[in-house]
Amino acid sequence: MKKAFIVIAILHIVCSVSVAQVQLKNLRTENLDNPIGLDMIHPRFSWQLVSDQRNVGQTAYEIRMSDNPRDLAKNKQTWSRGKTISDQSLYIPYIGAALTAGKRYYWQVRVWDQTENVSEWSAPVFFQMGLLSPSDWKAAWIVPGFEEDSLRASPLFRKEFNSAKKIRSATAYITAHGLYEAQINGKKIGDAYLTPGWTSYNKRLQYQAYDVTPLLQEGGNAIGVTLGNGWYRSYIAWSGNHDSYGKDIALLFQLDITYTDGTTKSIVSDESWKSSTGAIRYSEIYHGETIDARLAKKGWATVGYHDNEWSSVKRADFSKSVLVATYNEPVKKHETFQPVRIFKTPKGEQVIDFGQNLVGWVVLKAKGKAGDKITVSHAEVLDKAGNFYTENLRIAKAQDNYILKGEGEETFEPHFTWHGFRFIKIEGYPGELKPEDITAVTLYSDMRPTGSFTSSNAMINQLQHNIGWGLRGNFLDVPTDCPQRDERLGWTGDAQAFSRTATFLRDAHNFFAKWLKDVSADQLPDGRIPHVIPNVLGPSAGGSTGWADVSTIVPWNMYLAYGDKQILEDQYASMKSWVDYMKHQSVNDLWNTGFHFGDWLFYSLGDDPDGNSAITNKYLIAQCFYAHSTQLLINAAKVLGKTDDVDSYTALLKRVKDAFVKEYLTPNGATMSNTQTSYVLALQFDMLPEALRQQAADRLVENIKRYRNHLTTGFLGTPYLCHVLSRFGYSDVAYTLLLQDTYPSWLYPVKMGATTIWERWDGIKTNGTFQTAGMNSFNHYAYGAIGDWLYRVMVGMDTEEDGTAYKKIRIQPHIGGGFTQAAASYQTLYGKLASGWKIQDHLLVMDVEIPANTTATVYIPATSAEGIMESGKALSVSKDIEIAGAEKGRVVLKLGSGKYQFSMPWK
Ligand code: BGC
Repeated sequence: MKKAFIVIAILHIVCSVSVAQVQLKNLRTENLDNPIGLDMIHPRFSWQLVSDQRNVGQTAYEIRMSDNPRDLAKNKQTWSRGKTISDQSLYIPYIGAALTAGKRYYWQVRVWDQTENVSEWSAPVFFQMGLLSPSDWKAAWIVPGFEEDSLRASPLFRKEFNSAKKIRSATAYITAHGLYEAQINGKKIGDAYLTPGWTSYNKRLQYQAYDVTPLLQEGGNAIGVTLGNGWYRSYIAWSGNHDSYGKDIALLFQLDITYTDGTTKSIVSDESWKSSTGAIRYSEIYHGETIDARLAKKGWATVGYHDNEWSSVKRADFSKSVLVATYNEPVKKHETFQPVRIFKTPKGEQVIDFGQNLVGWVVLKAKGKAGDKITVSHAEVLDKAGNFYTENLRIAKAQDNYILKGEGEETFEPHFTWHGFRFIKIEGYPGELKPEDITAVTLYSDMRPTGSFTSSNAMINQLQHNIGWGLRGNFLDVPTDCPQRDERLGWTGDAQAFSRTATFLRDAHNFFAKWLKDVSADQLPDGRIPHVIPNVLGPSAGGSTGWADVSTIVPWNMYLAYGDKQILEDQYASMKSWVDYMKHQSVNDLWNTGFHFGDWLFYSLGDDPDGNSAITNKYLIAQCFYAHSTQLLINAAKVLGKTDDVDSYTALLKRVKDAFVKEYLTPNGATMSNTQTSYVLALQFDMLPEALRQQAADRLVENIKRYRNHLTTGFLGTPYLCHVLSRFGYSDVAYTLLLQDTYPSWLYPVKMGATTIWERWDGIKTNGTFQTAGMNSFNHYAYGAIGDWLYRVMVGMDTEEDGTAYKKIRIQPHIGGGFTQAAASYQTLYGKLASGWKIQDHLLVMDVEIPANTTATVYIPATSAEGIMESGKALSVSKDIEIAGAEKGRVVLKLGSGKYQFSMPWK
């Protein structure tokens, strides 16, 4: 009896120790932390297992959910998913009774691990439903009741109301034609900017939902909303194009209050609101903002303000059926920068250097007389002589003007514009400019950071830094080509090229999932994808190879990184109709018609008698991407179980490749264009018969040598260049290209002081002059696609395609290039993955960290397992690791989650 008790007690201790080992963290609904305003009927739940033990996996889970968090512990849940045998910890859908609009639900999970130990219930998290149908909107669209002036000053809307009872909770739902900034009782609602973001407004207009409970009070309350032109009607693209979606600027606002007694009330935009204008006199995305502080209406968004002189508003009959909840993370403020240098240029301009090419705006403090005008201009670079250079902004003025009211210290910042800049020029500043009065604030979509990368080479670390800032500068609700000139459009080619790299920098899942919905929405009826999404260039601008393939490449890349089948399901029709478009354009399976950008910005020479420009035939490229898109469609069809499509498109793919070989390959295996890009694409997309592949890779290497170890690729060839080299045994050449620092190369801009990725390989030439101002952005992420190789090949962490989202991890570093160390970490949806290698005292040391509930195959560069140590012990004695064999000079290991350190002798 006593013995039995002791055994039970010991068992209990053992169990509770191991129970405590698995913790549940990062519970997310639709990949968001406690989201407010979801409009899908089956929101999906994900969580992470965290443990300091090895080989931890989930074998079963249980979820419970309630609209009252206190009921969870009492097991009085409104929905539950009882113990389910499954290792799935991502995207478990809610499948229960219909969820109620505006209601908040709490859920928690517990899991069983591989030893059948059950974890504690996780801490509960919540999600809140948004408005689910047009009829949930009691608010009316309203427009200002006054005539607009020619500068289209930003309208203000206000409304006061009384809350007689104590408020339990309140949610504001807001959207606009244009951009909005809303306040309650003088305080900004939320911390997002440039809301409601950019979508194909006439088909999908996002609203945001905010918990505004803390902003409200019993008694009098005031709502104030400012609108700006934004993407809806600013000057966008070229030739004076504006009002892309309409001339009107309009507000839709609904505040749903629940009182402590359970009763509810809605305050909605309607004819009872008032309108006027205030300090923002002018606001254009490209040109900047003008704020006249003398015209600010003090206290206009607080109770008791006298609005007798204000105009009424007009109700407008705009559609509510286009309204959708917000799926991606909104734009928020991030890093701030103080001046690193305040100086006068040779021309006498007062210039400030922030030390980093960034995107956002400047917050400026000033003290002066009423009417003093300060102008802030923005530039990415100084010219050769050291003067402020703005020619590459083309017609974008990128200028903010502030007019002081002259009542002590005033603080200015714009609201409905943004700039890409490292330098600002300040004119008209009253008094002495002090560093503490000038702060640059970055703005970008608030995606979770995911990766970090370091190596023993400072130039490569700077390159990585620049890649990261390319994302920060151009993931501003949509993926843009550049942030500074009169463009800032969702260029599809750039986005597809960079999409995989982006996942290593930030969690781009929801960002791209949202944008892909616009790719579908704006797809042209014949299947072409417009060059830019949202499409503001009209229906004739679409269907370019390598650009339109965004419709297959990005969904597939997102599926690889995040394992979300829903993205494939949502995009499948769009993927298929793009492939069908190419099919219909082809004759005998050869697609050689239409307009294409080609291998944009490849190496080319002006006066080129020897023909050294690296021109790749555009139709050769088109055939490669036709095949690639078809392959990705087949991949998606397999995942989704569409077997008929798998069969028919597999047959098509074979014909497309045959047509390629017939048209573009010599019998000896040279590609028609004989350029790096032609070999890279042909090899990357498996266009060549097996037997001709290695020789094609050899030709690629020969070509690189011919250019004295320089790349000559443009937007389409560059992302795959090093991947192809590594795949065919030429990682040494990949490293040579990576470390090349003369033009054209990745490190040339780094050597020239770049802090971001440039649009062109030679944006600034060696003599300090610029490339043509017509197209010379210093913040264009496309060439930053090398980041993907740095993570997946150099450090060597990748997901297997049959275990996406890094459920099955492949660790296969490529050591070389004279590096003594390289390491990366990456927050997968399962948790932290890390891999790194260093060479020290004739030892190679590899540190690996595998998240719980995943497994990994590790390829150790060694010819035999003997001599490999793991955490100080011979590998052969490790019980946690399976030695699965050897292949191509690597020992293959299978392992589960946990931290491992391998070391072995190194030459
Ligand atoms: C953009 C690009 C884009 C290209 C189309 C440019 O103006 O900045 O990055 O992809 O046009 O070729």
